[in-house]
Formats: sequence, structure tokens, C-alpha cells
Amino acid sequence: MTQKVAVLGTGKIGEALLSGMIRAGWAPADLLVTARRAERAEELRTRYGVAPVSNAEAAKTADTLILTVKPQDMGTLLDELAPHTPAERLIISGAAGIPTSYFEQRLAEGTPVVRVMTNTPALVDEAMSVISAGTHATGEHLAHAEAVFGAVGKTLRVPETQQDAATALSGSGPAYFYFLVEAMTDAGILLGLPRDKAHDLIVQAAIGASVMLRDSGEHPVKLRENVTSPAGTTINAIRELENHGVRAALIAALEAARDRSRQLATGTG
Ligand SMILES: NC(=O)c1ccc[n+]([C@@H]2O[C@H](COP(=O)([O-])OP(=O)(O)OC[C@H]3O[C@@H](n4cnc5c(N)ncnc54)[C@H](OP(=O)(O)O)[C@@H]3O)[C@@H](O)[C@H]2O)c1
Repeated sequence: MTQKVAVLGTGKIGEALLSGMIRAGWAPADLLVTARRAERAEELRTRYGVAPVSNAEAAKTADTLILTVKPQDMGTLLDELAPHTPAERLIISGAAGIPTSYFEQRLAEGTPVVRVMTNTPALVDEAMSVISAGTHATGEHLAHAEAVFGAVGKTLRVPETQQDAATALSGSGPAYFYFLVEAMTDAGILLGLPRDKAHDLIVQAAIGASVMLRDSGEHPVKLRENVTSPAGTTINAIRELENHGVRAALIAALEAARDRSRQLATGTG
């Protein structure tokens, strides 16, 4: 049976998913998109050969609805969808911080909802997408969400109670690495390197370290020890990182991100 999938609110993340699905073999004829602005809808039609439809039309005709509007636009979108969405539709939400119960309360009783927290490397097919089932979502529904988000990177199933922690680690995660690159580039300038060269050195070190972390099978401690020779340069740098409490700062930073995610999810933010 052909499964029709609609992406509702096709912005940056929605478009990354759409293009990933097409590259992964979904037929454009089985994909629908919705957009708030007519020129955006036409852009998507031209770029991907997909049919732009209204939100109501998508709800009536697609088997799976992937909601990728901003969290603050979700209430309005659900008001539009609710009268047209039968209980058997699979709802996949890509919105940060919104619990599955929010959708379950606004849609027909029994509607399966899957919550996904992805991250911006979805734009280059290197996403980490963390997937949780709502009350009525089955293993099959989770597998469907994995197939969609697997088109733009890796996926991981977690209980919904762990979504705030996952948001702190992988949702916000890329920003911590950008911050480190920015700070290390500044250090390069202090050491007398031109900005562009300092940037290139640090970015390539980050890429090299990332590939080693992913592909070597070694623990990060072992990888660091391999670069840390007795009385060498690296151990002098590590001592300064420890003196300045960088490890403790990272733990506190991720805890703060987790707490903020919790606060946003309860709507008290
Ligand atoms: N970007 C990230 O870092 C990131 C990471 C993980 C998860 N997310 C989640 O992904 C979701 C999308 O983020 P994004 O960065 O892709 O945002 P975005 O680029 O602003 O995309 C959202 C799109 O939804 C459209 N829209 C809003 N209301 C609509 C409606 N009622 N009907 C149809 N279209 C509607 C917007 O139209 P306009 O163009 O007219 O505004 C916009 O094009 C968010 O919920 C966010 O929490 C984002």
C-alpha cells in the first residue's frame, strides 16, 4: 500500500526532511507539502516536484502528517487540522519541547503521535533525531518516523521522559561545538595566526576528531591519551582546561539546557 506523507509547515527542517526523503527513494507523487505563503509553496513545487496543498487537504489525504512549524505556531496549526484529521493518521511532531499529550488533547481520541527532536545537521544529512512514542503510537509508528528522519541522519528511540535531556545534548549540541570553534579561533589569533587560517585549522581538527570518535571504536579518554605525551604540549593545555573548570561548566551548561527544555514543555517559560 502506498503511504502518502505530508510535511506541514515546510521551512528549514521540513525542507531538509523533504529533500532527504526524496533522495532516500520516496516518490514525489507520494509527498505533499504545506506552506503559509504561496511563493514558498511554489518554490517547493519547482524545486522538488511535490504538490503543495492546504493543511486541511493534507490532513484528509495523507497517511502521515509531519508537523514542522515553530512551537509557537503549533496551536494554530492544530486548530486548522483537528476538524479534518481522522484518528488513524500518524502525527509526527518535529517541534522542540512540545509533549505528545499536547497533540493527543487537541486531536481525535486514539490518534498516534510520535515526537522527534532533531538538530540542524539535518541540513547536511548528519542529524541526530531522538524519537519518542505518545500514548497510542506503536512500534510500527516509531519505525515509520525512523524511516523519515533516518533519511537525514541517525535516529535513537528514548522514552519521552528523556526528551529534555536529549534536547540538551543533541538538540542544542551543535551550538556548543560552534562556541568551542569560535573560542579556539580567537585563541589562534592571540597566538598570531590570521583568522581564516586559525578557523581552517580548528574546523579540520574538529572534523578529524569527530570522525575518530565515530569510526575508531575507541573511548574518548583513550583518544585524548593518544595525543597527550608526557610533559608535552597537550597536557599543559588540559591542565588549564581543568584549572578553569571547563568540565564542570559543561555539566552545568547541559543541566541548564535540560531545565529550560522542561520549563518550555510545561508552557511556563
Ligand atoms: N532549526 C533548528 O535548529 C531546529 C532543530 C530541531 C528542531 N527544530 C524544530 O523544527 C521546527 C521547524 O523549525 P525551522 O527552523 O525549520 O522553522 P522555520 O524555518 O520557520 O519553518 C517553519 C515553517 O512553517 C511555516 N508555517 C507556520 N505556520 C504555518 C501554518 N499554519 N501552515 C503552514 N505553514 C506554516 C512557516 O511559514 P513562514 O515562512 O511564513 O514563517 C515556516 O516556513 C520547529 O518546531 C523547531 O522547534 C528546529
